[in-house]
Amino acid sequence: MAHSERVARLLAQMTPTEKLGQLQIIFRPKQEDAEELIRRGLGAVFWPRSATATNALQRVAVEQTRLGIPLLVGLDVVHGQRTIGPVPLAQAASFDPGIVEQLAHLAATEARSGGVTWTFSPMLDVSRDPRWGRVVEGFGEDVHLTSVMGGAMVRGYQGVDLSSPGAIAATAKHFVGYGQPEGGRDYNTVDASPHRLRNVHLEPFRSVVDEGAASVMAAFNTVAGIPMHAHHGLLTDVLKSEWGFEGVVVGDADGVRNLLPHRVAEDLADAVRMSFAAGLDVEMGGAPWDIDEGDLAAAIDPARLDDAVARVLSLKERLGLFDRPYVDESAEITAPNVAARALARRAAARSSVLLKNDGTLPLAAPERVLLTGPYAESTDHLGAWTQSFGAPARSITDALRERLPAAQVRVEPGVGFLDDDASGIPAAIAAASDCDVVIVCVGEPSTLSGEAASRSDLRLPGRQEDLIRAVAATGIPTVVVLENGRPLVVAGWIDHAPTVLEAWHGGTEAADAIVALLLGDEEPAGRLPMSFPRTVGQIPLDYAHENTGRPATTGGSMTTESADIGLHGPDNVQEKYTSKYLDLDLGPQFAFGHGSGYAAFSHSIPRLSAATLSAAALDAGDAVTLEIDVTNTSSRDGDEVVQVYVEDLVASVAPPVRRLIAFSRIRIAAGATSAVSFTIGSEQLAFWHTRGAAAEFAVEPGRFVLHVGSTLASTQPVDLEVTEARL
Ligand code: GLC
Repeated sequence: MAHSERVARLLAQMTPTEKLGQLQIIFRPKQEDAEELIRRGLGAVFWPRSATATNALQRVAVEQTRLGIPLLVGLDVVHGQRTIGPVPLAQAASFDPGIVEQLAHLAATEARSGGVTWTFSPMLDVSRDPRWGRVVEGFGEDVHLTSVMGGAMVRGYQGVDLSSPGAIAATAKHFVGYGQPEGGRDYNTVDASPHRLRNVHLEPFRSVVDEGAASVMAAFNTVAGIPMHAHHGLLTDVLKSEWGFEGVVVGDADGVRNLLPHRVAEDLADAVRMSFAAGLDVEMGGAPWDIDEGDLAAAIDPARLDDAVARVLSLKERLGLFDRPYVDESAEITAPNVAARALARRAAARSSVLLKNDGTLPLAAPERVLLTGPYAESTDHLGAWTQSFGAPARSITDALRERLPAAQVRVEPGVGFLDDDASGIPAAIAAASDCDVVIVCVGEPSTLSGEAASRSDLRLPGRQEDLIRAVAATGIPTVVVLENGRPLVVAGWIDHAPTVLEAWHGGTEAADAIVALLLGDEEPAGRLPMSFPRTVGQIPLDYAHENTGRPATTGGSMTTESADIGLHGPDNVQEKYTSKYLDLDLGPQFAFGHGSGYAAFSHSIPRLSAATLSAAALDAGDAVTLEIDVTNTSSRDGDEVVQVYVEDLVASVAPPVRRLIAFSRIRIAAGATSAVSFTIGSEQLAFWHTRGAAAEFAVEPGRFVLHVGSTLASTQPVDLEVTEARL
């Protein structure tokens, strides 16, 4: 890997101790403790929560150490720094990479102004298991959506020049497979085949490495028995050698120490040695300094040590830290400005999904409104991974009263988030009786999602379901507003609720966004980035599943007493012996891509620029254009989300029944028609072949069907054939 003259010169000057100091990031809340470590040679710290404190630490590094190498200052800026945007799962639901990029740029600008230069985001862990609390931090179950949103976030954080004031180094995490923990339990075992690794878990990382992500974080989990912090095959052979990644691989917090409970390391020195040998560049937690440095420096291959140090120094150089190590304290942004709030509000609105609507929404200037449920007055809208310095949100009650000053807005919470107490429900029902509409504001508190927050029961906690059912039974127009960090099991109440708005944890401006959506100032036109299961028993669950050798077309039945074919005859064999549950309908409660809006749209028949294309032409970069005309048939402007799925009819390995390959969210004026087009080439049709010695990303000739529509359930097919074998 080529380095600058400055990096080469520093490398030649550095002692082993100084080199090891550059290969760690340590968190020390006390400024004096951090300063002492920096004097000892530490090269990276967690953000000390202000520009002033950051400059103080930076001065120690630059002015009180032998070589004056500036610090990297890291922080989890996951969905905002001061202005908190919707959680990443919600951002994915916007199907709007533009808003994701804008939010990330805002976060980077606010963070860099305080001295942060390195964020541990985006999280690209594809997950089909909503029991796992960290689904909130990712972009859901789909590979393409995760890749597109991850790339948008990286562009937003890094811009085109890492040394600019509004840029911070992005970290693609957690490499790799963390989103498929057995049992949905955080940190648990991952055993994914090469086929699944390549075609699901690695793809988003490959995409953002191509996008120029500056850093990658190793995951806590094992893959096929090998902890990722010691996985040479993936950290070095794939990430660094095959993909040519020249950035920094950082460990997760104490991920190196965790090699001991993983039972693959004899002692800490062994753990540190094996992790750097596998391809780690920076350890998070200070393990190298908890062992004899002399032994360690000797234990790590000198060339590997220098390669790691060079990667770190090159990142610091790209960030401009050698030339401008200090941040302008007078320019530190410590609170959202008007534009930031407007962006956060717009993002929260665009992230919402209209799960159901019997026409109650948008509300027509109601005069008497009851707000009930724990989210009626809660301000807990920020979601997981927000820090105490994030700008707080306000309550839906306050936002609605400000928006409708003349209306009578009553509040009867009815129930709490978690407590098993329904004694407040009668008061809510009584209050509802003289209202025009009831808004039931329910969900998960932020503490139930995020890291180490896996749940085995995905229903609304506490007695919230009882409240929904009781309010719905009054017959008064009712809207359920759902705020959550994961897909939930809603089977207990969804048929009672005719109108349901999925608002997720929407961030600093969530309450105003929800009110704007309820009153039609904004439109909920997002789509689900993750399937909602009917029960926990259905998990893992995703739309891009294999067909299996016995696909079911109907759900199961528990009514027959016996399975004796002689009794029932062969006519039901084709249904009985198929892949399903005896006690459950087929498919999710709500599918990936589900959602609508307040406007209505019609679609033309999709058109392809060519119905056939040769594999050779695809290899040469040729593509076909898929086009569809979308008409807004309603009287209000609106957003449509056009999705394109590919169905590979026959392949060398069992293909998914559908795979998202493109999407576009478009604004269309009332009554207008817009043509939407997509380029379909090898990047869209290829998949990873893993049977040979080396994995190969290639298109297989054969027949494909492209499915185009606004949800998975409403697509139109168009055939495409890839002819002849490649040259
Ligand atoms: C946590 C998370 C990781 C985060 C890191 C630093 O354990 O796994 O995503 O970036 O520690 O906070």
